[in-house]
Amino acid sequence: MGRYVSINSRKERDMRKQEDAAFNRREFLIQGSIAVAGASFCLCGLGGCATITGSGATSKLTAGALARTGGDIVIDLAKAPELAAVGGAAKIVDRKDVKPIIIGRVAETSFVVVSIHCPHRGVEVEYQHERKHFVCASIGSSAFGLDGARLRGPAKKPIQSFENTFADGKLTIRGVAV
Ligand code: FES
Repeated sequence: MGRYVSINSRKERDMRKQEDAAFNRREFLIQGSIAVAGASFCLCGLGGCATITGSGATSKLTAGALARTGGDIVIDLAKAPELAAVGGAAKIVDRKDVKPIIIGRVAETSFVVVSIHCPHRGVEVEYQHERKHFVCASIGSSAFGLDGARLRGPAKKPIQSFENTFADGKLTIRGVAV
């Protein structure tokens, strides 16, 4: 009988050890999942999607609105609804022959054009008409004046701005063709 009890005790001890090991593995996985979920949450909460994608919310300039002339480009406003109203903005980011830029319509006959990439880490900037500046779409939110001067944020440098002229419904931007 004593021997029978001792075999049973050993079996119970082994079973308890296995259960403990299984529990520890489960706990490890659960804690790991919580840690990963926490990390993801932190990234989304603090970094914002923009820091992951690098993109802002500005619409791309309508295809066909742009023509090249030497080192300049000419935008036909009649074909660019993004820039039809004062306060509108458009970006050019996917052409190999034009530098990536953002254009903001400041007034009926006045536009501002800057490089779209924030000098901090390259996230796109957006035109904020009401505040009369460009602001980075990332959490760092560096801001730049309409002339490209750095106003605040982690960016250490100004953002490049480009001369432009507007006449007869056409916006000419200088020095942006590659
Ligand atoms: S990329 Fe960091 S503030 Fe713009």
